[in-house]
Amino acid sequence: MTEPAAPCIRLAGLAKSFGPQAVLRGVDLDIPLGKITVVIGRSGTGKSVLLKTLMGLLRPDGGSIIIGGVDITKLPDRELLKVRNRFGMVFQNAALFDSMSVFENVAFPVREHERRLKELEVKRRVDAALAEVGLLEHGHKWVHQLSGGMRKRAAVARALVRKPEFLLYDEPTTGLDPIMTAHVDELIRDTQDHTPGLTSLVISHDMEATLRIADKVAMLFDGRVIFEGTPDEVRGTDHPVVRQFVEGRLDGPIQL
Ligand SMILES: Nc1ncnc2c1ncn2[C@@H]1O[C@H](COP(=O)(O)OP(=O)(O)O)[C@@H](O)[C@H]1O
Ligand SMILES: [Mg+2]
Repeated sequence: MTEPAAPCIRLAGLAKSFGPQAVLRGVDLDIPLGKITVVIGRSGTGKSVLLKTLMGLLRPDGGSIIIGGVDITKLPDRELLKVRNRFGMVFQNAALFDSMSVFENVAFPVREHERRLKELEVKRRVDAALAEVGLLEHGHKWVHQLSGGMRKRAAVARALVRKPEFLLYDEPTTGLDPIMTAHVDELIRDTQDHTPGLTSLVISHDMEATLRIADKVAMLFDGRVIFEGTPDEVRGTDHPVVRQFVEGRLDGPIQL
């Protein structure tokens, strides 16, 4: 194995099947630390499975995930739990609790993990996270009173509140209109730029948004990463599958 050029999370030969269905078939990918990497691929290719495997919610059948020199796929469950705490996740549908205020949603992971924390300290942390996403004035609102974009912001605040090293976003703009999409893209970029040391991994099937926010783009196809590069390299490539994505022929048949 070659040494990575810069510090990264390294996925090598990552494999995951469900019964007879091989979803990940040997994913090789370096995720550089301190940057935004976007994994693009059409729906059903295993992008969410990749995220869940990376953060230890699913056990892979083979391959390795090296974080800080440790292969986390080999860790016992108790150690894996600690690794999971280093990740924050923004789920595809925001996944907020409707029966709680925005403040309580963001406070939830703090209360869950640090039960003895004083209320004043909980409030300090939640307010800091809400301020980061521009929702400080909206903490008292109920989730159903929020617009789609505000929900995403609340979900990002909840993912950030425990100061994760790695922030994962699963299709953060799916279902949003173009204006909201642009706001969320900006939020991802701002969050990255304002959080020292943060590493962001974004799953997307929107090529335009990808090219706007990514430092690095990787394309998942047929269970493997078939292309990696900068947004400029994506624009300039003549790789046939990537070209079909760039040209927006996303969910039709791939012609090789
Ligand atoms: N827990 C699971 N059990 C069985 N099949 C699953 C499970 N999770 C995902 N799959 C299957 O794996 C494939 C990839 O799913 P997913 O990662 O959600 O795709 P996407 O790229 O759209 O995020 C799909 O065919 C899906 O049905
Ligand atoms: Mg998905």
